[in-house]
Amino acid sequence: MTNIRSFSRKPAFFQKNEGTIKVESPGRINLIGEHTDYNDGFVMPTAIDKKIILRFQKNQIENFCRIYSETFSKGFEFHLDKKIEKGSGWENYVLGVVQELLGKNAKLEGFDCIIESKLPVGAGISSSAALECGIASGLNHLFDLGLEDLEIVKLSQKAENDFVGSNCGIMDQYSSVMSKKDHIILLDCRSLEAEYIPAHFQNCKLLLLNTNVSHNLADSDYNSRREECEAAIRIIQKSKPEIRSARDLNFDTLEEFKEELEGKMYERCLYVLKENGRVLEAAKTLKSGNLRDFGKLMYESHEGLQHNYEVSCQELDFLVAFSREKDFIYGSRMMGGGFGGCTINLIEEDKIDAYVEEVSSAYFSKFNIELDAISVRPGEGTKIYKE
Ligand code: GLA
Repeated sequence: MTNIRSFSRKPAFFQKNEGTIKVESPGRINLIGEHTDYNDGFVMPTAIDKKIILRFQKNQIENFCRIYSETFSKGFEFHLDKKIEKGSGWENYVLGVVQELLGKNAKLEGFDCIIESKLPVGAGISSSAALECGIASGLNHLFDLGLEDLEIVKLSQKAENDFVGSNCGIMDQYSSVMSKKDHIILLDCRSLEAEYIPAHFQNCKLLLLNTNVSHNLADSDYNSRREECEAAIRIIQKSKPEIRSARDLNFDTLEEFKEELEGKMYERCLYVLKENGRVLEAAKTLKSGNLRDFGKLMYESHEGLQHNYEVSCQELDFLVAFSREKDFIYGSRMMGGGFGGCTINLIEEDKIDAYVEEVSSAYFSKFNIELDAISVRPGEGTKIYKE
């Protein structure tokens, strides 16, 4: 008999009480540095002001857990002392984290959790990482598990890798938990050293345009890009064992091995090498306030993702190309894993409304799909309250 049982009626079980814990778990954006995190490289993400809200309380029923999503109007229940089986959707982000915690011998007891999400799913703003980190942070507090923030980040990533089956890097979980308000993180994904750069965008704002498409091979294509990079490194390592990941490549080394790298391995590594350089450059331009140069790097990043890394799609390419003619848009690129989701745009604030109208109508004429504009502000990482 299966341990996981679904229900769809809103449960009466959850009444706020003194022991209730509320967690605000944000989504993230990434200014530049895409597909570099799992290559030990550099990224520039931050949490945003849009979040998942989770409420937790102990239910005094031995080993029995109930989770309900207000957003999907669906819930499920399971027992901690029975096998945690994989489901098919959002439940896996919850179950994966519970499984990880149990694997660490965390002393969990029966609990109830209500989830309400203000994050669009499939938009590339990491609703999944927000859910994982929110569950981990909430249970950490509810049961006094004593986990540090970085442990929460790592175990949430591991849940996604091992339980959900997506071989993601650390960027999403790190930024959801560790961000500081009005700052961008420059994160070294190898050492996990982070520099917090003030998010001064002058007369500009960050605008996300959601294509509202999510091409269904996203997961397997994502994993195969990662495999291509790792396979290239295994080939190079045979004669250069000091190269531990694509992060360690330079142009000379990559050229030297060009003939030995099969299929698209060379293009993938070339993209990663250039993108890492762009992130470091972008950090400098942001610090010096040179937003035009920052924007150019965003466009270059998109080109690399489109042509060398091949994780874009026609809807994203259309939006980026459309923005290029506009002087008031400094930079635009696809954001996140790709194959759909959002573009991120650095745009002059007073031009936003008119632009959204223009681009939405052009997008609709071309694809017959509504475009969603989401204005975002760099926000704080996970916040926990006692209610
Ligand atoms: C997804 C993954 C991240 C990262 C990005 C691409 O969001 O979860 O780890 O690899 O794609 O940069």
